[in-house]
Amino acid sequence: MLTFFQHGIRRLFDLADAGFNRVFGQTCNPLHQLGALSFYFFWLIVVSGLYLYIFFETSATAAYESVEYLTHEQWYLGGVMRSLHRYASDAFVVTMTLHLIREFAFNRYRGARWFSWVTGVPLLWLAFASGIGGYWLVWDKLAQYIAVTTAEWVDWLPIFTKPMARNFLSQAYLSDRFFSLLIFLHIAIPLMLLLAMWIHIQRITLARTNPSRTLAIGTLCALLAVSLVRPALSQGGAANLDIAVSVINLDWFYLLTYPLLEVWSAGGLWLLLGGLTLVLTILPWLPPAKKAPVAVVDPDNCNGCRRCFADCPFEAITMQAHSKRPGFEEAVVNQSLCASCGICAGSCPASTPFRSIEDLVSGIDMPQLKIKELRLKTKVALEQLTDDVRILVYGCDHATDVKAVQNSGVAALSLPCIGMLPPSFLDYVLQEGSASGVFITGCAGGDCYFRRGNTWTDQRIDGQREPVLRARVAREQIRILWTGLLQKKELTKKIEDFRVSLKAVGHD
Ligand code: HEM
Repeated sequence: MLTFFQHGIRRLFDLADAGFNRVFGQTCNPLHQLGALSFYFFWLIVVSGLYLYIFFETSATAAYESVEYLTHEQWYLGGVMRSLHRYASDAFVVTMTLHLIREFAFNRYRGARWFSWVTGVPLLWLAFASGIGGYWLVWDKLAQYIAVTTAEWVDWLPIFTKPMARNFLSQAYLSDRFFSLLIFLHIAIPLMLLLAMWIHIQRITLARTNPSRTLAIGTLCALLAVSLVRPALSQGGAANLDIAVSVINLDWFYLLTYPLLEVWSAGGLWLLLGGLTLVLTILPWLPPAKKAPVAVVDPDNCNGCRRCFADCPFEAITMQAHSKRPGFEEAVVNQSLCASCGICAGSCPASTPFRSIEDLVSGIDMPQLKIKELRLKTKVALEQLTDDVRILVYGCDHATDVKAVQNSGVAALSLPCIGMLPPSFLDYVLQEGSASGVFITGCAGGDCYFRRGNTWTDQRIDGQREPVLRARVAREQIRILWTGLLQKKELTKKIEDFRVSLKAVGHD
């Protein structure tokens, strides 16, 4: 049932991805950078919020007027900052929610990744608490509604000795001290959110916390445009606790659950939100992911070069004193953090098919597909090629199925992640003359299932990252296509284009 649900959402994302890739290109596709965009919106909220704070009057009687001053008198900067603060907060909720749904749909939340998922759950509470707290400070009619409704909701829990709703019984009850507490909370909760965001990415190497520059500039321009065209305004005048609020427009990004309080009891909403939080928290174990075999280090072949340590996307590798060679280091795999991508094997200098020893053993290897097996499979695949132009395709298990494009001129091998492919294999395949070209494919750029496989592959081939592909390998005999799942048509077309270009330059 869960898998059915997951596949359905995945399909929608794949369709949206294809559209966004066409419009924005893979490097600017916002769906590939939802976590980074959430960080970006957070910083926009901080900067705009700091500006608002300079002019904000921190008393219940003057708060509303100070916000009105910013909105109308100082509309060109204060008003824009207020709107930017509001719209960046809305965008934050959108990207955060899509990020959650995407990680779920792409099955990137279980096994070794449980930590990122579970630490993501409190972010939801902190994000909503920050946003809702912000609405209170305007102290207009919407703020009054939120304050009263939230207080009644919170009072259902036996936390405070005196009910919180007492503060909102009438104008006379609302003290400046209580209002200052609200302001303190609106600063403290986002700070807690920032701390929680930092914890959230602790088990990820080189977490992407900045969107691409073009996307960042484009998004900022879009938010500024909306801010100018539709400035954020207060609702219904200043709050007056002596008069009940009757009509209000809700912000659906943050206040989605408030209408439920009109029809349900406070306890009912606590039960719903508590239940959802619980289900989300235990989701990575519903049912537990089947653990794939993890990377294994062979001390005799590990020279402590640190490449696997640098390339592992999940901080599963540490370096320790070598168990056999004094003065050297040795890679050590933390089994519980290893996501079984094999990127480490692709980075090991010992993973070269040119090694003449029969029992090719890498310094770090994957039990489910050892480098020596990859060499053997490569040889077998090449033997199947009978056409004049012979192409060997290396693909990845999480992108379009490469096996589906095989024919007499095209043989294909699928790896757990394309980052597992040592670049020396390209040299090997082409030097033997058994293939006219090598076609490499995998997940879309910026959206690798194992986070970094396609990026590291690009960099290794471009000579920017060890192990680099030797300069002697003719780049015209290599073609790369980063694409998502279910892109068989595009893959087939690009392989055919490659075949034509290889033939044109005489590689047959
Ligand atoms: C404040 C909101 C959030 C921010 C700013 C945020 C940010 C990020 C960032 C920057 C990454 C690393 C992306 C990369 O470099 O691959 C990440 C990964 C992740 N996030 Fe979030 N996140 C947020 C909320 C959530 C929520 C609510 C969940 C789910 C409950 C979640 C689940 C995950 C998971 C599972 C990963 C790991 C993905 C992987 O291993 O490939 N995040 N997040």
